[in-house]
Amino acid sequence: MIVCLCNALTDAQLADAVAQGATRPRDVYAACDCKAQCGTCTKMIVSMIRDTRSAALAAEGRLP
Ligand code: FES
Repeated sequence: MIVCLCNALTDAQLADAVAQGATRPRDVYAACDCKAQCGTCTKMIVSMIRDTRSAALAAEGRLP
């Protein structure tokens, strides 16, 4: 599914960038060799980062 229309980035590409350690939207764009254009997708990227980090912390048993 395309998440970022401006850069034609898919959810899989964004998830890969987050899994590789991107912790901010700008890190995700950089990992995909692009930059934010309109910024509409930023909210979705922040959500993906939060979900991925929460899952990682839960897997490590570090969630309160
Ligand atoms: S939709 Fe991602 S920058 Fe516009």
